[in-house]
Amino acid sequence: MSRTFKPRRRRLGSRRASLHAELLPRFGLDESGPSIDLRALFEPGSTVCLEIGSGNGDLASYMTRNFPQYSVVAVDVHRPGIARLLDDIDSYSLVNARVVEGDALIFVERLMASSLDEVWTFFPDPWPKNAQAHRRLFTTERIVRLARVLREGGVLRVATDVDSYAISIDRKLRESGLFEELCADRPEWRIETAFERAGREAGRSSTDLTFVRNGVAVNS
Ligand SMILES: C[S@@+](CC[C@H](N)C(=O)[O-])C[C@H]1O[C@@H](n2cnc3c(N)ncnc32)[C@H](O)[C@@H]1O
Repeated sequence: MSRTFKPRRRRLGSRRASLHAELLPRFGLDESGPSIDLRALFEPGSTVCLEIGSGNGDLASYMTRNFPQYSVVAVDVHRPGIARLLDDIDSYSLVNARVVEGDALIFVERLMASSLDEVWTFFPDPWPKNAQAHRRLFTTERIVRLARVLREGGVLRVATDVDSYAISIDRKLRESGLFEELCADRPEWRIETAFERAGREAGRSSTDLTFVRNGVAVNS
């Protein structure tokens, strides 16, 4: 199976490395393993969100500090970003955040069907060349895997600053028959990350896409 990322290992400084080693077992979930009920990890009634590609963790940290009704599982393969978020979870005693250091597409296989309220994927790597298209997160097959874990009425939020990718994502989600388009508004809580800011400074503007999971069953 191809990956939506190219593995890159960046070394952590010694303080971050020891924090990462200490905190990952406390606040991390394994990428693979037995089925897991995320709702049982959080306050009953909270909005359970999966953030795919949490980068340096800014949004997950901001949301869980400022909107305690949201519970966020942030997934990325990027160890320095995971380490930063672990640091925040510990420093702010966040009970509504967990991390997965690994591939979100493998992790979702651990989740029960219809177990998430929201899936966020802000600035997924666009893989613009045709030869790289198999790495895109929004392929027909991967959309089905995300749809399986989102409950009916649950929300899929996407943002990208690559116009052609926005058009492609929009089309693929519609064609899947598993989602209905809700709006193209930017959620007011979606802070500008360093990644988005760099794009804006380079002249790119962001498109937000918000889709709702409909009641069509996923064949698995
Ligand atoms: C362009 S960055 C955007 C990061 C962040 N959302 C932001 O706005 O700053 C995309 C991120 O997605 C991560 N990523 C790509 N595929 C992934 C996957 N299958 N599972 C987890 N993370 C993934 C990459 O490691 C990278 O950190």
